Amino acid sequence: MNIGMNPNSELKQSVVSIPDIVQVPDDLVHQAREFQEAIMMYSCAIREVKTKLEVLNDELSVRNQRNPIEMIKSRVKKPLSIVEKLHRKNLPITLDSMVNYLDDVAGIRVICSFVDDIYAVARMLVSQDDIRVIAVKDYIENPKENGYRSYHLIVEVPVFFSDQKKDMRVEVQIRTIAMDFWASLDHQLKYKKDIGDAAGSIGAELKKCADVIAKTDRHMLVIRKSIEAQRRTVRQ
Ligand code: GTP
Ligand code: MG
Repeated sequence: MNIGMNPNSELKQSVVSIPDIVQVPDDLVHQAREFQEAIMMYSCAIREVKTKLEVLNDELSVRNQRNPIEMIKSRVKKPLSIVEKLHRKNLPITLDSMVNYLDDVAGIRVICSFVDDIYAVARMLVSQDDIRVIAVKDYIENPKENGYRSYHLIVEVPVFFSDQKKDMRVEVQIRTIAMDFWASLDHQLKYKKDIGDAAGSIGAELKKCADVIAKTDRHMLVIRKSIEAQRRTVRQ
């Protein structure tokens, strides 16, 4: 498998001892090293996109005296989750599969206060000429049946390494504080397998909350806009 890095001379040994009693086959060490390099590349890609978002936030906060972004969280997918997802999608458990078929090994979550900030941040990010948009899913305009709302982008960003430039994929999820609060609780519902029959009614309660949250998000935006309009009138 080649993800475009130079073979490390250490890997040329036929076996590596860690410690003396454990003999690790050469190809396993090689695969582990390649996996580690791929993960390093994904974390660099996160840094590139995160910096773009931070620059936009700094610029807009000076210009509009208000931060469009409240918080940015990021993560590189854990090895076990990568294996689980490849398995779930019936894909071979290889580095090539991960690189070619998983779009969310590098993930960034952008938390905004207001819904219009989500679209503004997304528009400004994708209009940068080194960002290539692979996919867009607008779960705000089209919420999932369970009430999940968020704006998802899969983008490709070039990352410059010592001897090559690589286009790396990053999943960017943009949502409001309220949507994020909701999604964290919904996530618990998905991953707690021990709640049995209660899952249905809890899901229904969560759906109700999702609708209230969406209404509140819209209302908060209307209020912010009237405050801004008021300020403009006072200034004139
Ligand atoms: P995956 O195979 O899981 O990547 O789904 P997908 O490729 O159809 O992507 P989608 O854009 O629907 O979801 C990607 C990510 O969004 C998930 O890994 C979650 O982080 C988040 N997500 C999507 N749906 C939900 C949901 O119903 N609840 C919560 N809490 N998160 C969700
Ligand atoms: Mg996905």
